[in-house]
Amino acid sequence: MRICASFRKTMASSFAVCRLHMRGRASLAKCLQKTDAFLHRSIGTDVVIARAEATRSDESDEKNGRKSLHTLHMERQEQAERSVLISCQSSTNEKKFLKYLSKHGEINKYFFYESYGVYAVVEFANQESVTSLLEGVAIPGGSHESAVPFKSRLLSLRNLGSVDSSNQLSGRQCQPQTTIPINELIKRLSREESIDKQISSLTEAYQLTEENSRLRFLVCSLLKDIATAYFPECTIKPFGSSVNGFGKLGCDLDMLLDLDSITGRNVKLPKSGLSLEYQMKRANSERAVTQSILSVIGECVDQFGPGCVGVQKILNARCPLVRFAHQPSGFQCDLTANNRVAMKSTELLYLYGELDPRVRSLVFTVRCWARAHGVTSSIPGAWITNFSLTVMVLFFLQKRTPPIIPTLDHLRDLAGPGDKSVIEGNDCTFVSDFNKIQLQSNTETLEQLLGEFFEFYATFPFSRMSINIRKGKEQNKPEVAPLHIQNPFETSLNVSKNVNASQLDRFVALCQESAWLLQQSETSTPRGGGAGGEGAPTPWGLATLLLPSQVAGIKSRKKRRREPASERIKGLLESLKNKNQLKKS
Ligand code: GTP
Ligand code: MG
Repeated sequence: MRICASFRKTMASSFAVCRLHMRGRASLAKCLQKTDAFLHRSIGTDVVIARAEATRSDESDEKNGRKSLHTLHMERQEQAERSVLISCQSSTNEKKFLKYLSKHGEINKYFFYESYGVYAVVEFANQESVTSLLEGVAIPGGSHESAVPFKSRLLSLRNLGSVDSSNQLSGRQCQPQTTIPINELIKRLSREESIDKQISSLTEAYQLTEENSRLRFLVCSLLKDIATAYFPECTIKPFGSSVNGFGKLGCDLDMLLDLDSITGRNVKLPKSGLSLEYQMKRANSERAVTQSILSVIGECVDQFGPGCVGVQKILNARCPLVRFAHQPSGFQCDLTANNRVAMKSTELLYLYGELDPRVRSLVFTVRCWARAHGVTSSIPGAWITNFSLTVMVLFFLQKRTPPIIPTLDHLRDLAGPGDKSVIEGNDCTFVSDFNKIQLQSNTETLEQLLGEFFEFYATFPFSRMSINIRKGKEQNKPEVAPLHIQNPFETSLNVSKNVNASQLDRFVALCQESAWLLQQSETSTPRGGGAGGEGAPTPWGLATLLLPSQVAGIKSRKKRRREPASERIKGLLESLKNKNQLKKS
């Protein structure tokens, strides 16, 4: 999508708060009454919270260009607070757009993107500029819709005055917010000259861009504006693949409604002085409180959240959540609360990804390969999830000789006093200071690692053993489940409990076929029309592994001359054993 100047002449310029669709005035009145009652209880109470997290020192990491997830969150959240999201017309005069906005203050950064129309993210240098901008915006009136008196930072830009054709831009690329189609990717990879380069190219093409990360934090910040009507001190933080370093363009936006600064989880009750007097409500568990919090926020998002559509409250799930689509960003959003273990898992994955660049590249490659073959899916079911798959890659990297990444137990042993974290009785402590972590010198290439990954899981004794990144060693399975991956923090849980035997078999078979393909010189070296050549290049290496027909078609072609027979037989025996085991259980 290109932005070019073609505004109608002499039209008045104005911003409007995006129209909030009303489902009925009664519900608005009810919600505002509730908000008002809550605010009366809350205003005037100054809660001082000492946050254990805030005491962490990130200085030394920053010197090495590595930030802790905590620092990243703080920086990005602050950036998002100074930003607005503007729905533009399909063609916009960029110069006029900037001139108009600059009246409110200096602009640090801006970019355009397309999602059911053109949008711009604009980050001001100062928070006051946002206030000034919002003071001037109009709330639109309409014959069929009623506006909600809430000025969100999702705005819509109407006509910006006359356009002089000399001011027209030749065109400006919108920032892509989705990945290139798999066919495109396969072509791109086929032109690379080594499998290592293919893996880097895949990571490059799929990872979240700077702009997409900003947009994710901005959407959290916009939602926070709604949630603060109920909980003025709350924050909304992204977690999962949006921030753990393994996110692919287009992945969902997992959000956590963080109320810890209000509930004062980390604060000791003082012996004397004031403390908040809570009006305890009828709720017999923390889960019930979480459900009711999400229920009211979900209602608010549904009724008044600009651009939030298809809101579903899924409150009876193991982890209650509110799911909706945020149309202006195109993100599928999952809002949870009181989900601190998931935030810890995110921190852990982020840390592992930062330790060695091969971690992220291998995770990206395996995730992409799994998706291409339907091993993972966006629909919940008996499939292996991306989270489980990531833990499998981490475990494999811990098992290398020497290991590429340390075990979770080792990371816990390196933790300082500020890292201590116990959540619902689970020890979630691990080091946050990268400089304390000594890595061993493993020089394996990504090509080697990819091949070894497939070999490793093609022959893994899934029927007997559990994958355990805490110990970095397989353990005897504590329960009968086709695939057992110990939850790193809630150690009695299996993160892949949902996976059924046939899905695991498919995964193992695909690992066997992919390992075999990487051993064949015909498929593991560049073919004609490859690097630098004209026309459609012939898929090879990683590109071949992403072609479902290629991998699935191997069996019928029976071309397994060069494969070590012992490995294949071992794999087949394991797979048979798995099946038998499951039949018995
Ligand atoms: P994609 O959304 O598929 O890109 O990956 P994701 O890592 O974001 O996975 P998902 O949206 O399913 O889950 C979000 C986060 O919740 C994960 O990154 C984990 O931190 C956490 N999570 C997901 N599934 C589990 C699970 O089974 N157990 C635990 N402890 N945490 C989980
Ligand atoms: Mg996710």
